[in-house]
Order: sequence, then C-alpha cells, then structure tokens
Amino acid sequence: MIMSLAACSGASGDSAGSGDGGLVGVAMPTKSSERWIQDGNAVKKQLEEQGFKVDLQYAEDDIPTQVSQIENMITKGAEALIVASIDGTTLTSVLQEAADNDIPVIAYDRLIRDTENVDYYATFDNFKVGQQQAWSLLNGLGLTELDGTAIAGAPAGPFNVELFAGSPDDNNATFFFNGAMDVLQPLIDDKTLVVKSTQTDFNTVATLRWDGETAQKRMENILTSTYSDGSKVNAILSPYDGISRGIISALTDAGYSVGAEWPIISGQDAELDSVKAIVSGEQYATIFKDTRKLAEVAVNMTVALLNGETPEINNTTDYDNGKKVVDSYLLDSAIVVKDNITEQLVDSGYWTQAEIDG
Ligand code: GAL
Repeated sequence: MIMSLAACSGASGDSAGSGDGGLVGVAMPTKSSERWIQDGNAVKKQLEEQGFKVDLQYAEDDIPTQVSQIENMITKGAEALIVASIDGTTLTSVLQEAADNDIPVIAYDRLIRDTENVDYYATFDNFKVGQQQAWSLLNGLGLTELDGTAIAGAPAGPFNVELFAGSPDDNNATFFFNGAMDVLQPLIDDKTLVVKSTQTDFNTVATLRWDGETAQKRMENILTSTYSDGSKVNAILSPYDGISRGIISALTDAGYSVGAEWPIISGQDAELDSVKAIVSGEQYATIFKDTRKLAEVAVNMTVALLNGETPEINNTTDYDNGKKVVDSYLLDSAIVVKDNITEQLVDSGYWTQAEIDG
C-alpha cells in the first residue's frame, strides 16, 4: 500500500532528492507524549531524505504557542506545512496566512477544523480504532475474538464497565468514542455491560488534552462514588495509553492489584511504558498505529503537492471539517495484546525486545 502510494506521488523512499532543498514546517502538539516525538522524528527524517530542510516544532499543548510557531514557519518561507493540531478549531487565521502565501497544508493525524485552508489529511481509520478499542475490552472479558466475532459459550455477565474519551477539542476523540460505542451500546442495551456510574455522555467522559492526571482524578471519583459498596469495575474503555496509565494509578491507589479482580483496560499508541504494562498485566491492550507509516503518507503528500502532482487518497467522505470534506488517506491500525507484542511491535522494528524488557 505504501509502495503504491510512493509510486503514485513520485516520492519513493529510495529515490532521495525529490525535494528542492526548500523548507517544510512541521508543527507537533507536545513532547509530553512519546508518540508525537516518534511522529516528529519520522517526518523530519523522511523529509530530509527527500532533500528538504525541516523546521520541527512542539508546542507543549499550548494553543497560542502552536499558532506562533506556524506563523514563524510562514515567515521563514516554508513551502509546505504539516500540522498535528492541539485544538483543531484554533488555526483558522494562521492558515489563512498560509493560503495567502500559497503554502499547502496537510493535517497530520488530527483533522484541522473550521477552515477551507487545509489541503489533505493523513490519518488512520479513526472510527475503526474506536471499534478495536471496544473489541479489545470484549476480548479481555471473554466475550469476543479480537475482531469482534462472538465467542460461543461466553460468560453472560453482567460486567461493570466505565468509559473514558479523549480531548473534546480533538476531532479524533469523537471518532474513537463513536466507534467504541457502536460496539458497546448493543451490549449495554442488552445488559451484558453495565456502566455503573451511569456516565456515558461524551462530554462527561471526555478528558481535556488527553491528560493522564485528569483521567486519574475522574477514575478516583468514580471508584469512590460508585464502587465503595464492594462491587468491582470489570473493564475500562480508555482511548489512549496516557489515560490508561492514569486509570491504572487510580486503581492501584484504591487497592486493586493485578490478578483475578483487576479490570480489562484498553489504550492506544503502543507507547513503551504501556507495552510494558501489557506485559505485566496492568493494561490489556493498546492500538498500534505505526507512526513511521503515517509520516510516510504525510511526506508523500507534501512531495506530491510541491511537485504539482495529486497525492493519493482513499477517503473523500468521512472527514468534514465544518467547511469542507477534506480528502484523506486512512491507514490501518492493529490491536496489540500480550500474545502478539512480538509479531506487531518487535518484528516490525517499532520497539526492540530489549526496550520492552528494559
Ligand atoms: C489523538 C491521536 C491518538 C493519541 C491522542 C493523544 O489525536 O489520534 O493516537 O495520540 O491524540 O495524543
């Protein structure tokens, strides 16, 4: 898939030098999450291999910082911008400046909203990621295979489940939550799953800036308000590894320990600490989104645009940013559980066994 993408855009990985030595601005949200460091490094490396100079900036989740970083990139003469936004709705005026200077803009992983001035979107199938998160929970509870197929003779439940969503200003958070609820809602309706806190509404379960401490506090509150009667939470939908780590801390502080009563917890991003948590049994699963492939898609889009070619896309319907439907390329993601860590993460070279063991 990536090969054909490369061929189409005239930017195959081994034909270095399609770049003209010009500058590409790469705006990333934060270094506080390992995945964005991997993303930034992968994009920079691949652009440099194509002969570009790269201005890579991180904004530590501060919106005005990200806006001024992008302004600086424009001032410095960037030929194209690759942007993973903090708040997808706050870049409208700076991207107008980019458009006025004929600078193409690629939204990286997160859709940029409320502007005409985003040319392409490189991401994963975010609704499917949400479904995979839900399937991983059901698999941990013994109800389905990892692909959602029902297991014959599965336990009837009911299982107590709690729900967490991502940052409400990140378009992806709704996609993940809607994908997960597409799978979970029928089981809530037939009472196999019970959200004992009754907190099911997106805005109630959302976690601003995907912050692990915010999630930890909410989990602590739920454990106090809902589970101090001796009942146990059996599964927790978490949309991101950093949130999962906050949830794990809350459970540990409340006296849960890994073993029969430890809940099934999902995640996303295959961050190293969370891969270790899967090995130790604290986290059940994560969703692996290969940042190297995402970088490749974004870089190929950039090179194609700068060469006056049309980037390859595979979705023209799903990502309406409020002003237009943005042409997108969606990559596939994979569920990682203890049993397939080697196959998914080590064999693909994403993490070494030594890093996971370390
Ligand atoms: C989302 C992204 C997830 C996760 C999250 C928190 O936009 O799609 O993979 O990284 O941000 O950083």
